[in-house]
Amino acid sequence: MAEIAAPRGTRDILPAEQTAWRWVLETHRRVAESFGYRPIETPIFESTELFARAVGADTDIVEKQMFTFTDRGGRSLSLRPESTAGVTRAVVGARLEQEVRPVRVHCAGPMFRAERPQAGRQHQFTQLDVECIGERSPALDVEIIECAWRFFAELRLTGLHLQVNSLGSAEDRQLYRAALVTYYTPFRQRLCDDCKRRLDSNPLRLLDCKRDADLVAAAPLIADSLSDASRDFFAEVQAGLQAAQIPFAVNPRLVRGLDYYADTVFEIWHEQLQGAQNALGGGGRYDGLAGLLGLPPTPGTGYALGVERILMVARALDALPSAEASADVLVCSVEVEQALQAAGVARTLRSAAARVVLDVSDRRLDRKLRAAGKLGARAAVILGEQELAADSVVVRDLAARSQQTVPTAELLETVERILR
Ligand code: HAM
Repeated sequence: MAEIAAPRGTRDILPAEQTAWRWVLETHRRVAESFGYRPIETPIFESTELFARAVGADTDIVEKQMFTFTDRGGRSLSLRPESTAGVTRAVVGARLEQEVRPVRVHCAGPMFRAERPQAGRQHQFTQLDVECIGERSPALDVEIIECAWRFFAELRLTGLHLQVNSLGSAEDRQLYRAALVTYYTPFRQRLCDDCKRRLDSNPLRLLDCKRDADLVAAAPLIADSLSDASRDFFAEVQAGLQAAQIPFAVNPRLVRGLDYYADTVFEIWHEQLQGAQNALGGGGRYDGLAGLLGLPPTPGTGYALGVERILMVARALDALPSAEASADVLVCSVEVEQALQAAGVARTLRSAAARVVLDVSDRRLDRKLRAAGKLGARAAVILGEQELAADSVVVRDLAARSQQTVPTAELLETVERILR
């Protein structure tokens, strides 16, 4: 029978990789919480309409990449391609911003996008997410960027490039849309089918086109459509980044692939990542998003970082932590007859907070001890017929390759001495 493989665009995270994953997730949690962000979790699937309204019906993500299905009640649902829409729905839906403002939340979890799989691009991937909802201030845009920056510093990842831009207010973007239409209309005939449609429905998305890249390169810039107020806001963000000593480049072509942004947008790129997959993460301000969801208008700003890409970079920089031992102690019986007593000893050691693996199989003792080394155990406790008769056990220091027979009453302190 044919072997069943993992679905295309997905990856298993096997035990040997878990140390690195935990390192990334834990470091992010610690850094986000040092800024006062609290954990939140939202569903992995949501109504399709949530993403159509938030991310935008004309975006690549919603148009081409969502995993959408119909439930038994005939409702259209989609696996979440990102978490800002769901988190905003949850936070503003629960009116959390009426208690403490802004609401600072963070989360981590799987996202789903049916993009053509390649290195750094999967159908299921994991994002670290920070959202700050309920207040409009350039200082908060700086705060979230500083949070991401500190996180990467704690991971000791170097070679990062922060790109920032401003998409201005809704009125600014209206002006910019008109400028894009004026620019693109003479080229209508040569545009791809997607772009022909976008020229009428959502001209900003014309800038996502990979096929008409020459047109994108020469297109008008949003900077030329910004009002004085938008420019001032952006200048304050830049001043804040300078004060925080975070190096950045203003990239006037950065527009991001999601419709909900206004004012500040940013991406963090890494030279190890190639081409279109060069972003470790990105984010920005989304003051209009809550309104698009039918919720009271509520400003917000946030980011998401891709864990798989972070790990790719960390691996390339040789920054990954070494794999953790999965056990401190191996307890084994010499023969299966001592299995119950060995299990009792394992129980005692676990109560003393050691991580204990029990081996009461009929394998040879030397094989059992070799396996203990692979688990990273530092001590082995061996129970044989003779030892049991004398109410004692053999305790072996696996690193020192020495062993001693001790009375059962001294088991704990002997093992603790080795583990210390
Ligand atoms: P995004 O730029 O679409 O932003 O995704 C953020 C990061 O997720 C990317 O920079 C990348 O590292 C990772 N990522 C995206 N797609 C894939 C994929 N197919 N495979 C592997 N990694 C991927 C957002 O999702 C926004 N929600 C960010 C945000 C939060 N804006 C405000 N708050």
